[in-house]
Amino acid sequence: MLAIIGGRGLTELANLEITHRQVMRTPYGEPSGAFMFGMLNQHEVIFLARHGYGQTIPPHLVNYRANLWALREQGVDEVVSVATVGGIRADLTPGIIVVPDQIIDYTHGRDATFFDTRDTRYSNANFTLPYSPELRDRILRSARIAQHPCLDGGVYAATQGPRLDSIAEINRYERDGADMVGMTGMPETALAMELEMNYATIAVVVNHAAGRGDSKRGISMENVNTTAREAMKRVRSIIELVVNETNEDNR
Ligand code: HPA
Repeated sequence: MLAIIGGRGLTELANLEITHRQVMRTPYGEPSGAFMFGMLNQHEVIFLARHGYGQTIPPHLVNYRANLWALREQGVDEVVSVATVGGIRADLTPGIIVVPDQIIDYTHGRDATFFDTRDTRYSNANFTLPYSPELRDRILRSARIAQHPCLDGGVYAATQGPRLDSIAEINRYERDGADMVGMTGMPETALAMELEMNYATIAVVVNHAAGRGDSKRGISMENVNTTAREAMKRVRSIIELVVNETNEDNR
C-alpha cells in the first residue's frame, strides 16, 4: 500500500475519500496525528500530515520513527513524501517542483535510527541511492501525464531548523553540492530505508534560499505560504496519478 506524508501546505488531500481515521501507537510513541485511511482514485492509501493537522509540530520535534513504524505496521511499502524547500540552484525558483535523487544530512539530535539498542541485531541500511529510483520515475511520469513541469534530480540538504538559514550556511551547502534546502528530509528518508520501504520525495520550492534571488535580506513567509498553497494543487494531481500506476503494476 502507498502512503503520503504531507508537509507544509498539504495537511489534507482534497480528493481523498476518507474511510476511517485511526490514532496509532508504536514502541517509539505516537505519530504526528491520526492516520487518514481512504480511497484516492479508487486506490487504498494512507495520508499523514507530518507537522500534525494544525501544523503545530516543528521539523525537529516530528516523531519520524513513530510515523514510519506505524505506516509499516499498516502494510505500507511505498511512501511519497511531500516537502517544501528553499531553492539554492539557480533554476530552482519558487513554484518549481523537483524530485531529489540525493540527500545530505545536517540535522542533529534527532532519533535517526531504529537500531538504537545494543541487544538486537542491526544492519547497515544501504543509502547509496537514498530515494527509490522506481518510485521517483513513477512520480516524474505522473507529472508528465498531468502536464505539470517537474525537475528530475537534485541534492537535498536537510537542516535542523526550525530557524531558516544564514547566507554563509547556504553558501556552504552549495559548495557541498546541495541544490535545495529543507528541514524534514532526515531522518525520514533513512528510516524508510531501514524499514525497506520504497520512498521518494516531491519537493516544492517555496522560496529562494537565503542570499539568493529575492531572499538577499530575508525570506517572506507570506510569499512562502502563497506559493505553497498554489503548488500543492499541482502536487495533488501528480499524486493522484502516482496512485493509478501502483495499480497497473499490480495487475
Ligand atoms: N531553508 C530551510 N528549509 C526550508 C526553506 C529554506 O529556505 N524553505 C522551505 N524549507
